[in-house]
Amino acid sequence: MQDEDRTVTKIGYRESHKYASKGAEYETYYRTDAWEKFLWSREQEIILRILDRCLADKEIHLLDFACGTGRITALLEDRVKTSTGVDVSGSMLAVARTRLHRTEIIEADITTENVLKGRKFNLITAFRFFLNAEPELRSAAMNALRGMLTEDGILVFNNHHSLASPWIRLLHRRHLRKNPNGIFNVMSIEQMTELVTGAGLEIIELHPAGFFHPPKVPVSYWLNRTIDNAAYRIKCLHRFAENPIAVCRLRKTCPGK
Ligand SMILES: C[S@@+](CC[C@H](N)C(=O)[O-])C[C@H]1O[C@@H](n2cnc3c(N)ncnc32)[C@H](O)[C@@H]1O
Repeated sequence: MQDEDRTVTKIGYRESHKYASKGAEYETYYRTDAWEKFLWSREQEIILRILDRCLADKEIHLLDFACGTGRITALLEDRVKTSTGVDVSGSMLAVARTRLHRTEIIEADITTENVLKGRKFNLITAFRFFLNAEPELRSAAMNALRGMLTEDGILVFNNHHSLASPWIRLLHRRHLRKNPNGIFNVMSIEQMTELVTGAGLEIIELHPAGFFHPPKVPVSYWLNRTIDNAAYRIKCLHRFAENPIAVCRLRKTCPGK
């Protein structure tokens, strides 16, 4: 199975998911790849825990940015008051339309089009986007999303190739050795922090997911769960997770500044 991320070519991330069969390919990949299935189970648990911790008893207005086929949106749409998904790819959104039943789906690029005209959301999710977006697109998207976040809202995003993970470091090095001009995106926790800070936000929680991913060694779902559960309890290990999930809010400025 080809790694979905490595199919991203040099055409630019905005264009990368627009070809006709992309939505169906994406779905197949996440339904059949063992590691991705495991990560998805962890992502769901963590997202729901974040909702309980940060937005309990609040009416939630969700914006799922770069919603693609609606993976994250589908998990949340029945748990929120209003649900909106936005993406630039008609092919990805065609799958989302078959899966979502109470989400407003918008095909647009919010970094260049003002389609949400002054609307605000107290939950913004952005999964599997920032890692692969070019630096210019990362900042443009984070800045646009910042403008749509309510004062008490949270933005939740992930980085599924964290450079702090020993496995990702190994894969990255191996990839560069074999294929110096190829693409294997990685992002450090420091880069996540800089991206967020640059847009006037701050990371308030970092949830680790995916610890044991040795290349080419099949690891069972249950062994992965056991290792993740154990590592979750040991705080000093958190930064080594392959897929950290960040919870951000608007940065509070000091009084007098
Ligand atoms: C890897 S998919 C992630 C989909 C979904 N968030 C998930 O986690 O399954 C990345 C998505 O980002 C979308 N995308 C790329 N550039 C975008 C932009 N400027 N605005 C909105 N979506 C964009 C792509 O079309 C693609 O559907």
